[in-house]
Amino acid sequence: LNINKPIAVVLGGTYPHIKLLRNLAERGYHTILIDYYEAPCAKPYAGLHIQESTLDRERVLQIAKMQNASLVISSCIDQANLIACSVAEELGLPHPYNSQTGSVVTNKLLMKEFMSKHGIPSSRFVKITDIHEINVSALRYPLIAKPSDSNSSKGVEKIDSADQLIESAKNAIALSRSKEAVIEEFVEGREIGLDFYVNCGKPQLLITKERRKIPRKADPAQQIYGCFWPANLTASQVDECIEIANTIASSLGIDNSPLMIQAIIGKEGIRVIEFAARFGGGESFKIIELASGVDIIDLSIRSFLHEQASVVSKASDLIYAETFIYAEECEFHRILVNNALVNEGIVDCVHQYKSAGMSIGEKLTSNNRVGCFIVSGSDLNEVKSKIKIALNGMQVFDVKGCDRMRRDVYRFEEESQ
Ligand SMILES: Nc1ncnc2c1ncn2[C@@H]1O[C@H](COP(=O)(O)OP(=O)(O)O)[C@@H](O)[C@H]1O
Ligand SMILES: [Mg+2]
Repeated sequence: LNINKPIAVVLGGTYPHIKLLRNLAERGYHTILIDYYEAPCAKPYAGLHIQESTLDRERVLQIAKMQNASLVISSCIDQANLIACSVAEELGLPHPYNSQTGSVVTNKLLMKEFMSKHGIPSSRFVKITDIHEINVSALRYPLIAKPSDSNSSKGVEKIDSADQLIESAKNAIALSRSKEAVIEEFVEGREIGLDFYVNCGKPQLLITKERRKIPRKADPAQQIYGCFWPANLTASQVDECIEIANTIASSLGIDNSPLMIQAIIGKEGIRVIEFAARFGGGESFKIIELASGVDIIDLSIRSFLHEQASVVSKASDLIYAETFIYAEECEFHRILVNNALVNEGIVDCVHQYKSAGMSIGEKLTSNNRVGCFIVSGSDLNEVKSKIKIALNGMQVFDVKGCDRMRRDVYRFEEESQ
């Protein structure tokens, strides 16, 4: 049928990938979506959906070969990006960076080793593979354990004292595919994120964000419920981050690719937590477009195709915030939004992630987000007060008609900038 069109294989049918599929169709591709779920939200936008796991590299390779793909791509899903790059590399298709770089930007142990080798400020760490041989005597508590490769922050646990060490270490090793983990010093401070596009080897800063953590009493894991965009940073803090981005890009040979850096500003300055050579998922593409006018989905395609990009990002005069909506364990029905919120301009948009009948688990993970809303304002106070009004004007109903929204997730009193 579409025999004359080049084939693009897209890994993952997430919300941002709707835009990816549309863009590829406009470029003249016939799109084939690989996603493990039966009805991922981007499915209606794909030419064909094949229900397989995007993490199954051999299967992805086989499909790409069988379909004679000319592009294998993913824009903003951590492990899927790595697989897209490595399959494309094997098939001689265009890809932004080689799989060796791909491993450093997705494996926390390799990343920590890379940062210490290249003088990028990051907290001290030890590698662990065996719980009988853990030596953290060079580190200062509190610590944090992380599997070197897992996803959705699984196994990332703060360790307040020595009696928690073995349990967390065991958990992190078990959840790591390579059975390796990192234990590093926990840094107290403000968490920030920076999105760059490396253009001809030069990282251009698109936007910054301040990450809003879920209080630990609501969830012992290390989750956020949204961000403020941009973050309130000094010029010298921004310069330091740009310098770090330069070191990462030049040392890894990243020429044309997104680059995301996550850091904490602690007492001793900026400490990089992790970085990735892709854009963030969720609402990132939408907020970056609203705030800076840059289409990151198009940039991510350009990065795969080695197309030249002209990146002009305007400084935003507004502050944006996305706030994820969580439900308690239930069978989800819908989010009910008071009309006035939209009509009176309190929220810019509300977006429901789950469909009726989906079951919501007990744990707070990114999979338990039932939706999200975006607000904007000319200063942080306006944004915060809009968020409060919005939260009061929303309900999350289960199939029995009970309000199951989790409101303990949001932290306001402690928030300060
Ligand atoms: N050294 C650290 N000090 C303080 N908090 C940390 C540290 N490392 C990670 N975290 C917290 O844990 C979260 C998840 O860790 P991260 O390394 O970003 O892994 P991932 O995003 O893959 O789950 C971070 O966003 C941060 O909130
Ligand atoms: Mg992270």
